[in-house]
Amino acid sequence: VNRLVGRDFVDFADYTPSELNYLLELAEAIKEKQKKGEKYQPLSGKTLGMFFTKASTRTRVSFEVGMYQLGGHALFLSNGDTQLGRGEPISDTAKVMSRYVDGIMIRTFAHEDVVELAEHASVPVINALTDLHHPCQVLADILTLKEHKGQLEGLTVAYVGDGNNMANSWIQAAPKFGLNMRVATPVGYECDPAVVAQAKQFAREFGTELVVTNDPVEAVAGADVIYTDVWASMGQEAEQAERVKKFAAFQVNEELCKHAKDDFLFMHCLPAHRGEEVTAGIIDGPHSVVFDEAENRLHVQKAILVATIG
Ligand code: CP
Ligand code: NVA
Repeated sequence: VNRLVGRDFVDFADYTPSELNYLLELAEAIKEKQKKGEKYQPLSGKTLGMFFTKASTRTRVSFEVGMYQLGGHALFLSNGDTQLGRGEPISDTAKVMSRYVDGIMIRTFAHEDVVELAEHASVPVINALTDLHHPCQVLADILTLKEHKGQLEGLTVAYVGDGNNMANSWIQAAPKFGLNMRVATPVGYECDPAVVAQAKQFAREFGTELVVTNDPVEAVAGADVIYTDVWASMGQEAEQAERVKKFAAFQVNEELCKHAKDDFLFMHCLPAHRGEEVTAGIIDGPHSVVFDEAENRLHVQKAILVATIG
């Protein structure tokens, strides 16, 4: 039974472990069908409106291709070409869109804008990245981890770098999948305090470890996964030079990786900057699974679309 019809996917907070595992299993089944060349079009005649206020390669292409493969249609709506970009209220936009489309995907800056859109839309709203969260990416990453390690329970994920949207979504999701989580950021670049408090609560509830530190070696010691992301996210371009200086000790390089398990996986949501947050040797080396993560965006998002739009 699919209990997720009509639900938004804005972050992991109100999803239970069993709902999240259902999404993972659905993604695995959808992926298998595609690999076998089986047609699967449960969204025939359905449409997805996709609002983008920020750039994207993976997210746009995987959602658009995913909707097509499921038998539906996706509309790319760039900020500069919609009335939303000219100041039409989010609530009006939500109500109008709900009369046309069966689901809405949005990538933007303020997380509150997505929450507001979801509140006023009568169709499911999917968060495709805000300044605070990137749940579609983390779900794809967790599927990738499961594929490579066979199971998730008890694995330790070390996130090293900026306490950004990726880090926030990781700490929020990890406890619900039985994953231990360690985050190391420079001082002043920690995760969102409210998300950390929530993640600590989830870690207590589900009996997992959550370590928040400013020491990359402490985070990586004995870890199964080393995850990193860009030092300056979209919207922070002006801080790039300052961040390169402050983040130097947080580069994922050969030296840091020596502290992880011998069979550690390197993960990154992409796009990456070789020589900044990660060395070419690591991201292009044998531990890296970054392109599997990118591929799995397609499969998990198809699962989210099927489950919520139904
Ligand atoms: N990882 C990710 O979301 O990539 P895009 O910015 O290319 O969509
Ligand atoms: N933290 C990055 C992720 C890009 C997928 C950003 O927000 O730009």
